Amino acid sequence: MKKEYIETIKNSAGRLKILLEDFFELSIIEQADYPLKMEIVKFNSLIIEALFGFYEEFNRRNIEPEIHIPDNDIMIMVDPSAVKRVVENLVINTIRYSTGDVTIHLRRINSVVQLKISNSVHQLSKQEVNLMFDRFYKADQTRTGSGTGLGLSIAKSLMEKMDGIIYAELKDNQLTMICEWESKYS
Ligand SMILES: Nc1ncnc2c1ncn2[C@@H]1O[C@H](COP(=O)(O)OP(=O)(O)OP(=O)(O)O)[C@@H](O)[C@H]1O
Ligand SMILES: [Mg+2]
Repeated sequence: MKKEYIETIKNSAGRLKILLEDFFELSIIEQADYPLKMEIVKFNSLIIEALFGFYEEFNRRNIEPEIHIPDNDIMIMVDPSAVKRVVENLVINTIRYSTGDVTIHLRRINSVVQLKISNSVHQLSKQEVNLMFDRFYKADQTRTGSGTGLGLSIAKSLMEKMDGIIYAELKDNQLTMICEWESKYS
């Protein structure tokens, strides 16, 4: 068999494996008794930690993200690994799909802690934005070599488990993913 065929098969097998793992993960998260490890954490530090791991990747893509994270501590009850997973899925998307700049904002608005991650997009409709959180949805069906369309579904399930919300806004070719948690700590 020609080498390129073997490569293609290897690649599809690799993709299938990732798809199965992601799908399995999502079905586990969606189970009613999925265990969360909720704890009170310094949310500003947690987000910085989560973002730090993407420094290299941003660099490689020549993206210099604009990051606004307050110095004063934001205390909140969350599952830290679930938060990291949500941030990871959102940031990987900005690295993959941004057509330019990326902005990350963390702020507390009264009792709500809000994380906004936004990037510029190319020709994305409001309709597509509404479908994004659906399983297997990919806005550009023709794109090859990227994900399986489960990242945002996983993020949404995890947010719901933590009693948070996640939604998207599209304005002037800027897509913003917004995560919100209620915090009774200050
Ligand atoms: N930050 C973003 N900017 C532009 N388009 C986005 C962004 N995030 C998601 N999308 C669009 O929404 C679709 C669904 O995103 P999602 O993260 O669920 O899946 P994926 O990135 O295709 O695959 P996976 O995350 O499973 O590897 C993407 O394929 C892309 O078309
Ligand atoms: Mg994704």
